[in-house]
Amino acid sequence: MEGLVALPLAPAPQPEPLAALAAFPDPASVDPALALFLRRASEQLCHWWATAADRSPLPSLSVLPEVAPQAGGLALDALLADLQLVMEGAYNPCHPGALAHLDPPPLTASVAADLICAGLNNNLLAEELSPSLSRLERSLCGWMARALGLGAQAGGVAASGGSLSNLMALVVARQQAGLQGRTDAVVFCSADAHVSIGKALAVMGLPPQALQPLPVDGAGRLQPQALADGLARCERSGVPVIAVVATAGTTVRGAVDPIAAIAPLCSRHGVWLHVDGAIGAVFALSPAHAARVPDLGLADSLTVNPQKLLGITKTSSLLLLRQPQHLASSFATGLPYMEPSWAEAHGGECGLQGTRPAEVLKLWLGLRQLGLEGIAAVVEGAVARRRQLQALLEPCDLALRGGSLHLLAFTPATATPLQAELWSSLARQRLLERQLNLHTLAAVVADSLNELPHA
Ligand SMILES: Cc1ncc(COP(=O)(O)O)c(C=O)c1O
Repeated sequence: MEGLVALPLAPAPQPEPLAALAAFPDPASVDPALALFLRRASEQLCHWWATAADRSPLPSLSVLPEVAPQAGGLALDALLADLQLVMEGAYNPCHPGALAHLDPPPLTASVAADLICAGLNNNLLAEELSPSLSRLERSLCGWMARALGLGAQAGGVAASGGSLSNLMALVVARQQAGLQGRTDAVVFCSADAHVSIGKALAVMGLPPQALQPLPVDGAGRLQPQALADGLARCERSGVPVIAVVATAGTTVRGAVDPIAAIAPLCSRHGVWLHVDGAIGAVFALSPAHAARVPDLGLADSLTVNPQKLLGITKTSSLLLLRQPQHLASSFATGLPYMEPSWAEAHGGECGLQGTRPAEVLKLWLGLRQLGLEGIAAVVEGAVARRRQLQALLEPCDLALRGGSLHLLAFTPATATPLQAELWSSLARQRLLERQLNLHTLAAVVADSLNELPHA
């Protein structure tokens, strides 16, 4: 071994210590700490999705991390650990048994687009603050409005949720009818219309009696004869009507109001027809199921919520109009501190919101990810699940209440309202205890019926 010299072992190369996470992006080079932070946050999210089946759809316990900022800012690891705690207490829409039909799992491309949207931090208030994104919103609203039958000139605006879309529609309808100063004006809708209609009227400064709910038939649809009577009554007594709201997909049972019968009544009385298609309008994008929501194109305005069935991340709602210029006539105030709009009006002049994110990005990318066939498949899947649920529940002693969409409501066939209420909370509790497992659903529902104290 002569001649061999024992060299001391070279120390293992140590990874460069990462610089602390900078508060804002570096405009000149990729910040490795920021790239690592985003990668680890994405991995954490992917892991949360991948373990969804192991956790309850609704966590029973949630622990919040410390809420107030400390004197010094937190490092990357501590930020991710805090995020993890909040994630563990979150509702779990990816659980196979999660049945909240208005809160589905997120469409993956829309998650990525949401991140990019936050990173771009553009502002749809004005085109100079969101040049490509303002155009994207206008173009996509135009495409959607035409696809839903509102005509070649149709378009619209994105809004943070269906309640806001409905409110904006009613503000436009009132402005078009010239009824801004009238506190005696009314709106007709079905008794099963969404609560956001009443809320909108309150925001518009109208008294509770401005909401005129009309009776529904056995399938939950507005009765056109009741509307005809109501409109005639208003005409006789000189009560002005702001709008009729038809619902394409009521919240509880998915009923679709008969728009073909409602629209001619609106035309005859010169009244705006708004269709709240927050739940049902996307069915019209599926050739196989479009007939479930016929005649959407007869509306003056239409609410669509791709955040529901299509799984675009929240919030994603559009207000579409046959004549989109009415948006600016209702909401434009002029933006004296901005460059003039390159089109008819800035985003902030086409609706109630001023500063708002480019929510259109996740809708656009999500729709591109699905393609028309993917959209049709999502709709088909929802209808198939309803069929499966109905088959499971039919043998039970239940009254099933469903319209023509994917929703199915059920309640005990014979029970007092108080017993039905009791059964509902009992069944929910038992279903959650068994992780909302579809295979045991019928048994759980039937057992809960047996547990009911008799009246
Ligand atoms: C028929 C209908 N319209 C409007 C809305 C309101 O939508 P958002 O919750 O996005 O404000 C809902 C919500 O569930 C709904 O079911």
